Amino acid sequence: MRVVVHGGGRMARQVANVIDEAGHSLLALVSRNRPDWLTGVDYHESLDALSELPDAVIDFTLSGGTSQAADWCRARLVALVSGTTALVEDDRESLRRASELVPVLWAPNLARGPNLLMRTVHETAHALGDSASVEVLDIHHFEKKDAPSGTALLLAQAIASAWQVPLDDVLDLGETARSEPRAGRISCISRREGDVIGQHRVTFKTAEDTLVLSHDAADRSIYARGSIEAAQWLTQQPAGLYTGADWLSQ
Ligand SMILES: NC(=O)c1ccc[n+]([C@@H]2O[C@H](COP(=O)([O-])OP(=O)(O)OC[C@H]3O[C@@H](n4cnc5c(N)ncnc54)[C@H](OP(=O)(O)O)[C@@H]3O)[C@@H](O)[C@H]2O)c1
Repeated sequence: MRVVVHGGGRMARQVANVIDEAGHSLLALVSRNRPDWLTGVDYHESLDALSELPDAVIDFTLSGGTSQAADWCRARLVALVSGTTALVEDDRESLRRASELVPVLWAPNLARGPNLLMRTVHETAHALGDSASVEVLDIHHFEKKDAPSGTALLLAQAIASAWQVPLDDVLDLGETARSEPRAGRISCISRREGDVIGQHRVTFKTAEDTLVLSHDAADRSIYARGSIEAAQWLTQQPAGLYTGADWLSQ
């Protein structure tokens, strides 16, 4: 599989580092500024400058970047994996429109472990019901722009869907999340510390006990390897909008 990476930050660098050992090749890297770590790979400021089409684009940018990748993939009929979090409405709409013509996978967490956590959290919420109060804590490095993390919001969504209620009806964010969580409510708390790659901890409390489920990422390459595996799977799928759960349930 020949891949174009869209973005030039920490995650783009990880994909560039592991793509050869994963048995695939990096056709080019596209970002608005040339990363100083990039050597031996074709670089372009815009996707429109590519002279050859890849099998898939892997997008790790920030708000606004994903819509550019999605619009380009729609026009060129190229599969798209996006791991970018904190999407704006424009990004979401472009992903949806692209998915009418090409396979598109968007997942705020592309590593296997957090997706397994998601599944376990859903089952636990289902089993305990809304007599439990839940705290979802995410801890990331200081430079992470969005809070709560995209993964924390998906975990909260997994709990709300197990309780069969709209997430907005049970979610406490920011100041309201700091007080002791109440039964049937989900408190999302974020901490930004040092260079923590990504930690998520979900605590279910009932009157009788406390149950804690958590995942700690020790190396950013888990997301990069996941994005490559997801891209390979995606190139075999028909047009549509896929999630991390779709990919991992195959
Ligand atoms: N799904 C997952 O598993 C996973 C895991 C880790 C991180 N993430 C997410 O992946 C994204 C990237 O993370 P990172 O750590 O690599 O961030 P980063 O180091 O800050 O890099 C972001 C890159 O995006 C590019 N960019 C920003 N705005 C853009 C725009 N409007 N159009 C095109 N490119 C744009 C920037 O390059 P230029 O300014 O030069 O264009 C920069 O190279 C974040 O949203 C992060 O939360 C997801």
